[in-house]
Amino acid sequence: MAVETRRSIGVGLIGFGTIGTGVVKVLAQNAAVIEQRLGFPLRLVAIADLDTETDRGVDLTGIRFDADAERLIADPAVDIVIELVGGYEVAKRFILAAVAAGKPVVTANKALLALHGKEIFAAAEGAGVDVAFEAAVGGGIPILRSLREGLSANHIDSVMGILNGTTNYVLTQMEETEEDFEVVLKRAQELGYAEADPTFDVDGIDAAHKLALLTAMAFGAELTYEGIPTEGIRNLTPIDFELAREFGYRIKLLGIAKCHREDGGERIEARVHPTMVPAGSMLANVDAAMNAIEVRGDAVGPTLYYGAGAGEMPTASAVVADLIEISREIQRGSAGAVAPLSYLPHHLVPKPLVGLDELAGRFYLRFTAADEPGVLARIAGALGDQGVGIESVVQKGGQDSKAAVPIIVLTHRADEAALVRALAQVDELKDVKAPTVVVRIEEEA
Ligand code: HSE
Repeated sequence: MAVETRRSIGVGLIGFGTIGTGVVKVLAQNAAVIEQRLGFPLRLVAIADLDTETDRGVDLTGIRFDADAERLIADPAVDIVIELVGGYEVAKRFILAAVAAGKPVVTANKALLALHGKEIFAAAEGAGVDVAFEAAVGGGIPILRSLREGLSANHIDSVMGILNGTTNYVLTQMEETEEDFEVVLKRAQELGYAEADPTFDVDGIDAAHKLALLTAMAFGAELTYEGIPTEGIRNLTPIDFELAREFGYRIKLLGIAKCHREDGGERIEARVHPTMVPAGSMLANVDAAMNAIEVRGDAVGPTLYYGAGAGEMPTASAVVADLIEISREIQRGSAGAVAPLSYLPHHLVPKPLVGLDELAGRFYLRFTAADEPGVLARIAGALGDQGVGIESVVQKGGQDSKAAVPIIVLTHRADEAALVRALAQVDELKDVKAPTVVVRIEEEA
């Protein structure tokens, strides 16, 4: 194959927010090392953003900066387009326009790819260009490249991890300070960890977007986001952290995906929820806004990837790594050769999801009940009726018989379907004053 000698690659950036600013910084600060690795420079040609007024504190000499994304995409000096606008419609329009113009795209937009990736990747394949998105999962951690390249010899058995920095910060702080969720969330917002609208983070949606991408790449499953059972961290209170510690666990919001290889084919278990993990495990000790992902392959065994899952410079590191990889392909004349989701598109096939009601495990349950004689027996009775065995029981508080008190139960291994039936029974008891909080226990984390 003829190797084209490049003088430089021109880059256009759409979306000049925090990550975009980081990209400008990395390209400027690390220009020499990038050229030493690539053989030619990456040149930022143009930036487009609706906000052309705010001073981002970076030197834009020689870079055109205006609000015209269409012009940027059409600019012959732009070889690769970076989309950092975020959101759905506008970002998708820019990506598809770039692809239609035969230009590869780098994006960090996990929400868009999780929901519309199928259409975007099909368009990219049709046009023979790359769409790269390392920054979409795990920020600066090269987890997608690891799945696509370093682990490509393996059947992947499971992918499990802390995929959202904001919630990990909130959980770590709740555990340390014994403050309520709302108090800690407010502080996370003041510190700039959490968005003004924290819904995607605290309800697990951001982690589910990332898990959808990981699941497709790990198991060759057609991209599906909608069916992933997703629970956030809003219901947790300081007592849950205290009890978790007493029982030998810590609470993390995990994205968990496992491949079930069955006679009839493969099915995928994928779920996002608060999880108790053994206090000594690696994932338990990932604190503050850090991310960590454990991948198990049949040949390699367990592997762990840890680093900053968000933030200006770590995320920009991943964006620029994608620019470098695509630039190499442009130079080699092999654009579009790397399957974005690791499997060749025709090998990404629908794989049904395993329902939560098919799973079994141990559970932490927090009941909120009136402190009346016999209430514990009634709760235990409902659990026992459905075959859910009790390993430990703890009741907190209880001086005032009128007040509701937390009753905490740790179960033996039980079917989740049986637990759901038991909790429906419990929630009908007149002594039970609020829905039961359930935290699944993952011993293998
Ligand atoms: N809101 C995300 C997080 C940013 O907190 O991890 C990176 O995707």
